[in-house]
Amino acid sequence: MFLSLIFLWMPVLIFTATAAEFKTHYCELNTTSHINNTIFYSNLIQVLDSLVSDTIVSDKQFLYNSTGIQPNIAYGLYLCRADVLPNDCRNCLLEAREDLNKSCFLSKAAVSWSDNCMLRYANYSMLSVMNSAIFIPECNKINISDQTQFWHVATDFMGQLATRVLNDLEVKNAYDELPYNDGKLYGYVQCTPDLSGSDCGQCLRTSIDRLSQYCYGKEGARVLAASCDVRFEIYKFLQFPAATSQNQGFIINLILL
Ligand SMILES: *[C@@H]1O[C@H](CO)[C@@H](O)[C@H](O)[C@H]1NC(C)=O
Ligand SMILES: *[C@@H]1O[C@H](CO)[C@@H](O)[C@H](O)[C@H]1NC(C)=O
Ligand SMILES: *[C@@H]1O[C@H](CO)[C@@H](O)[C@H](O)[C@H]1NC(C)=O
Ligand SMILES: *[C@@H]1O[C@H](CO)[C@@H](O)[C@H](O)[C@H]1NC(C)=O
Ligand SMILES: *[C@@H]1O[C@H](CO)[C@@H](O)[C@H](O)[C@H]1NC(C)=O
Ligand SMILES: *[C@@H]1O[C@H](CO)[C@@H](O)[C@H](O)[C@H]1NC(C)=O
Repeated sequence: MFLSLIFLWMPVLIFTATAAEFKTHYCELNTTSHINNTIFYSNLIQVLDSLVSDTIVSDKQFLYNSTGIQPNIAYGLYLCRADVLPNDCRNCLLEAREDLNKSCFLSKAAVSWSDNCMLRYANYSMLSVMNSAIFIPECNKINISDQTQFWHVATDFMGQLATRVLNDLEVKNAYDELPYNDGKLYGYVQCTPDLSGSDCGQCLRTSIDRLSQYCYGKEGARVLAASCDVRFEIYKFLQFPAATSQNQGFIINLILL
């Protein structure tokens, strides 16, 4: 009995452990030399400092800020997953910043995505501007056996989560679980909360379509876009104790300069 419990849990633990290390980035507007000697770069350091340090004292899932004057304004934003605690959000942002610093040092704009957060900067204003053109698909490596049926159910489920977000004017995310065969499907969708409802819906629909374009037949998938992300798995990847997002509210703070 004890042994079988361990074996039942083992795949889950392994999955959770490997999934937690996921991190990726997209470097945009590359220049030909390191941007570190520019005014833009010093503005960028300031704006990233302000974003990252803010989460020490407060609990914000989303934050937008900018620093400097034209033509050297640096704009930055972050979005943490709705279940991520403030301290984990901050640690995630620190790592994201480090990653962008190393990987995108020629770039005037860049995004870093990981399990818990997204960090983004640019030399152009990003506020309330939907961007689904910048995206990265990330597929679970394992094939599902009943792929036609499974993917039909999964994309339908994701579409329902997107609809739930559209029907809620305040919270730009939704999650739920759905019984499937002997297990469950777990889904999550979110937009940056500065988007209008229709822009958010468009970003989610585009991303959900890309799930099957890039990951069809796999037992889990996500698409990470600059303005939204969508994900489903057959294991629980969110830390919420409750099953659905219907009665969860989050405080979103938006800072405009
Ligand atoms: C920008 O630079 C990064 C880092 O050197 C590189 O990985 C990426 O492919 C470049 N992007 C473009 C569009 O050139
Ligand atoms: C800027 O980056 C380049 C390339 O990494 C480096 O050689 C140079 O010392 C850096 N300059 C400053 C002021 O940090
Ligand atoms: C990148 O890392 C260097 C060295 O740690 C640091 O001085 C610089 O402020 C960092 N830049 C950004 C944009 O975070
Ligand atoms: C925005 O960033 C600037 C400096 O980069 C900082 O002085 C200001 O406090 C920040 N605003 C907020 C609300 O974090
Ligand atoms: C951002 O930087 C790119 C590359 O240097 C430049 O072509 C573009 O005009 C800049 N955008 C703004 C709004 O300054
Ligand atoms: C998974 O499915 C793909 C496409 O149907 C196939 O090419 C691949 O060999 C399969 N992988 C495994 C491990 O079965």
